[in-house]
Amino acid sequence: MEIENSCRLKVLISEEQIDEKVAFLGKAISRDYAQVRDLVLVAVLRGSVYFAVDLSRNLSIPFILDFIGISSYGGGMEHPGAVRITKDLDVNITHKNVLLVEDIVDTGLTLNYLLKKLRIRNPSSLRVCTFLDMPEKRILDVPVDYKGFEIPDAFIVGYGLDYHEHYRNMKVIAVLK
Ligand code: PRP
Repeated sequence: MEIENSCRLKVLISEEQIDEKVAFLGKAISRDYAQVRDLVLVAVLRGSVYFAVDLSRNLSIPFILDFIGISSYGGGMEHPGAVRITKDLDVNITHKNVLLVEDIVDTGLTLNYLLKKLRIRNPSSLRVCTFLDMPEKRILDVPVDYKGFEIPDAFIVGYGLDYHEHYRNMKVIAVLK
């Protein structure tokens, strides 16, 4: 990809660092859920797909992978975090152990909404794994059980994160200047 030649992109997390961290998270989750049945990984469309697939390949325990799609209302800054479900889960998560997989937690508004929506379905457990955490941007205090990297407030692309749908497929995470 054009990243080496581009002065607009500065690599923040390399492909090797990503692979190492995903393997680490996969081991930790496999260990913690070793005695648990009915694990459902819920990937949030669309950004977390890359991480969720990689993470799933690093799990040594059985699981079901499912997807939930969300979209912001047209309210823009007036109604930040006003999101709705555009594609619901196919799996019934009642009495299942759910691990919500995000690429990034930023303000926490999306995660807060999703946790509320999933909690009322009565899962046996509901935890969160995010690859990136940007605590400086947080508006709502949300629980994060597994995290890959804490990063500073910047415009980040790659590994699922986009700028107008570009850069999602980059194998590194970069700051877009
Ligand atoms: C991103 C990311 C999270 C959310 C985090 O999704 O995947 O779901 O933003 O932001 P928050 O903590 O401020 O709520 P985005 O809305 O960019 O959609 P996408 O995954 O389809 O790119």
